[in-house]
Amino acid sequence: MTKPFDVLPVDASFGAVVTGLRLPELDGPAWRALHDSWLEYALLIFPGQFLEKDEQIAFARRFGPLEFEMGAVSNVREDGTLRVEEEGDDVVKILKGNEGWHADSTFKPIQAKGAVFSAEVVPTVGGHTGWADMRSAYDALDAATKAKVETLSAYHSLHYSQGRIGHVPKKGTDDYRRLGFEGDEDVLRPLVKVHPDTGRKSLLIGRHAHDIPGLAPEASQQLLQELIDFAAQPPRVYHHDWRAGDVVIWDNRCLLHQATPFDMTQRRIMWHTRIAGDPVSEAALG
Ligand code: OGA
Ligand code: MN
Repeated sequence: MTKPFDVLPVDASFGAVVTGLRLPELDGPAWRALHDSWLEYALLIFPGQFLEKDEQIAFARRFGPLEFEMGAVSNVREDGTLRVEEEGDDVVKILKGNEGWHADSTFKPIQAKGAVFSAEVVPTVGGHTGWADMRSAYDALDAATKAKVETLSAYHSLHYSQGRIGHVPKKGTDDYRRLGFEGDEDVLRPLVKVHPDTGRKSLLIGRHAHDIPGLAPEASQQLLQELIDFAAQPPRVYHHDWRAGDVVIWDNRCLLHQATPFDMTQRRIMWHTRIAGDPVSEAALG
């Protein structure tokens, strides 16, 4: 069946640019066709949509209940002033932490299903977002490594991942809660995740993962680093150079993503709507 929009795959094992549609105006059949494309490509990029906030939230809700509606991912404070990189406040440290490959909310009891992410203001240099396909990464492992990782799990923690870049957040602030530090107990997740809709296996790794039970700390750290280094390589990576008005939706159940550095004397204002994971398939172990 031809789709009521155009899908142009990007030059990677995943990802497509989708044009010829207005996201707020999709009828039921068009949305179902789009959902099929999302499961196939895992990352859909919609240039020049310029969604209103309520339109972004409504679009995301079609994919399931939300973990949160609208989070600013930005170096601009509410009063319009810029956060200074050298001062390294908790928000800047999170922006810096995001530069490590990760999946969202894997350190929570239920990891995220996905995100709708849009660009309002973009810097002239840098600030691209990268994604990496953990389905094709798993598929590309040799048989012995596949057999090994099948049996393993890892703890996930935001205190761990931020600690690795020297960030110990100030307790009890609004940012502490908003950025996800509160109630953060390490949760255990398998290294191989089965996608609830497609049945495909993928590597569940990233910066929040640490301390594989049964391995010595150094061996665990080394394996997790080797897996990320192997996984996040062409043709499994794609970086998007944003223009204001662009919208993407990614599948957090089979992709990693990363922020990239930008000139922090310029403004970057992005909006993140996080789709909640299904407690049946995105819950941590135990
Ligand atoms: C996020 C994230 C990357 C970026 O919002 O979860 O990792 O490019 N963002 O800002
Ligand atoms: Mn993220």
